[in-house]
Amino acid sequence: MKTKLVRNHQQKFHFPPAFCVFAPGRINFIGEHTDYNGGLVMPMALDKGVYVAISPNGDRMLRIQSLDFNQYAEFSLEGLAPDPSAMWANCPKGIVRMLQDKGCAVPGADITITGDLPIGAGLSSSAAVEVAVGFAVKRMFNLNVSDIDLAFLCQKAEHEFTGAKCGIMDQMISILGKKRTLMKLSCADLEYEYIPFKFSGVSILITNSRVSHNLAQGEYNVRRTECAQIFEMIRTMNSDAATISDFSLKEMGENEYFFRGTLYNRLLHILSENYRVRKMARMLKDGDLYAVGDLLYESHKSMRDHYEVSCPELDWLVDNASQIPGVYGARMTGGGFGGCTITLLKQSAEKAYIASLDQYVKEFGIEPEVYTAVPSDGVRVI
Ligand code: GLA
Repeated sequence: MKTKLVRNHQQKFHFPPAFCVFAPGRINFIGEHTDYNGGLVMPMALDKGVYVAISPNGDRMLRIQSLDFNQYAEFSLEGLAPDPSAMWANCPKGIVRMLQDKGCAVPGADITITGDLPIGAGLSSSAAVEVAVGFAVKRMFNLNVSDIDLAFLCQKAEHEFTGAKCGIMDQMISILGKKRTLMKLSCADLEYEYIPFKFSGVSILITNSRVSHNLAQGEYNVRRTECAQIFEMIRTMNSDAATISDFSLKEMGENEYFFRGTLYNRLLHILSENYRVRKMARMLKDGDLYAVGDLLYESHKSMRDHYEVSCPELDWLVDNASQIPGVYGARMTGGGFGGCTITLLKQSAEKAYIASLDQYVKEFGIEPEVYTAVPSDGVRVI
């Protein structure tokens, strides 16, 4: 990957890169749609992600080539703005603009981007682009930006340049992921803890349903609006609450008459999901993989029935996994409406699991893809 990146950079810009950077994609093990509600999440950085080569130019220009989209464009650094007709360039442009808005001087950069993450599969390819480019620019020009600042700037770039009103989870894990661990992150104060993920003979398989999801359009942002409504209701009962997650399942029970229908279901998902993340951390530490698996199934059900972000293909994949001996648990991962499932299983069951996917092809006419989730480090120079 690096050789291809360096060769293409040199060909296009007639200059070798100053250095190359890798930023990982992620799965979320549990804690879904809780990040923008001040809740708990538990993502893992992958060994797949986005690769960036960078060299400085003194022209006050940002030049970007994307090997995967087979595109090239150049932009003046004065007034970088999103362009809906060239979505491929919005993430890299967005993070550079956010750095500028923070007061960082960016004299000019030539950038080549490639990657090995499926795009639009819910494994955070866009966060990985923002983090890789942001980190490369920060390092190149010695910018005074902390890891947490960088995460917030990448999130802002996503909001303003792609229109997806994402939370902070994807950017945090892509920056701060750590080998052989999951990160338990509290999105209220960004405190985090690494939880070892080392179980011999056990793996996590990612199954890409190949139903493409697009968070910028529609339902993801609808969920955010619903959550804003819920928060307003909570504030009338508890004016100290800073986020939905400051409300408890107990308080919810006491005020049941207050929340109805859809909003009741959304709130139930968020609060019960926070509970599941806490329990998950304990079960992982105890090495109780059956309990871990049950929590994955419960989380999926809640996403399917209460938060309503699943789809028939994802439900099929989870149901199917649950019937295979040696599988502990499975759930959809990420924003939903397509994308991937994760399956925790004994390595000895992998073959049977993969063979069972033939039926998915028959059912939906789509060939799914399967990858192993390897818990890896966050953004780094390579
Ligand atoms: C997407 C967003 C994240 C998070 C998840 C759902 O991946 O980018 O911030 O909200 O959906 O958990």
